[in-house]
Amino acid sequence: MDLKAIDFYYFSGTGNTLLVVKKMQETFKKNGIDVKMHRIENSDPEKVNLNNTIGLGFPVAELSTYEFVWEFIKSLPQSEGTEIFMVDTLGGFSGGIVGHMREIVKKKGYVPIGAKEIIMPVNIFYIPDKEINRIKIKKGLIKAEEYANNLMNGQAEWKKIPVISDALYYTSLLGLKITETRLNQKLLYLSPDKAKCNKCGTCIKLCPIDNIKIGKDEYPENLMHCQYCLRCASFCPKEAIPCKINYKWKTYRAVNANELLI
Ligand SMILES: Cc1cc2nc3c(=O)[nH]c(=O)nc-3n(C[C@H](O)[C@H](O)[C@H](O)COP(=O)(O)O)c2cc1C
Repeated sequence: MDLKAIDFYYFSGTGNTLLVVKKMQETFKKNGIDVKMHRIENSDPEKVNLNNTIGLGFPVAELSTYEFVWEFIKSLPQSEGTEIFMVDTLGGFSGGIVGHMREIVKKKGYVPIGAKEIIMPVNIFYIPDKEINRIKIKKGLIKAEEYANNLMNGQAEWKKIPVISDALYYTSLLGLKITETRLNQKLLYLSPDKAKCNKCGTCIKLCPIDNIKIGKDEYPENLMHCQYCLRCASFCPKEAIPCKINYKWKTYRAVNANELLI
């Protein structure tokens, strides 16, 4: 298959997906394919170039992916045969993303040419030690390179398992709805510890959905629409945002904060 120039739209909370999409970009480029990277949180889906191949990269969250990632994909314009592929990164099990997303893009007239789920370190609940994560990343990046090669030689596939795909998708919606509830936002609220926070504003810059603003007391304030991508907690230079759902509040990051903002 002759892939056209690629516009690769991605979101990464703590860096795993960024590493994967960059490895794929490098592999495509080595083969002479032009790849432009776009951060989903900065991109207007209606302005995608339908003459190029579209890539989508994002993490799995709650057996689904973040609401704003779904919104981006659901807002893509109608197309007449634009090729599209997806890659997600996950700790182990994704539920109902792949099949349902295939339906969405297919109904919009895109040609789904490949989907791949790549296991990377878990960034939530229990964070394993650095050596375990290093090995997982190494294996994940080998898979990313293989997948990019498969896309180029026409061996990639994007399948949907009838019934099960949809059942898993609708089950996963429950998790996303629970995240949205005010009670949950209060319980898991990622709020800065004012004794540690130096008001540097890193969390505000990193939040993909503008859920953090400067409060009246000049400390960051969570506006209670958090989707739990964990960027603010993971990259706070003062470790001032305790991630209460993680064992011992330990955080994970695969890259430096500035790499997420390029
Ligand atoms: C809120 C949240 C929910 C998650 N849910 C799942 C899940 O349902 N299944 C899974 O395999 N991994 C899950 N993970 C782990 C991430 O998908 C995984 O670590 C991913 O590689 C993170 O990518 P990123 O660093 O680009 O954000 C979850 C992570 C977060 C923060």
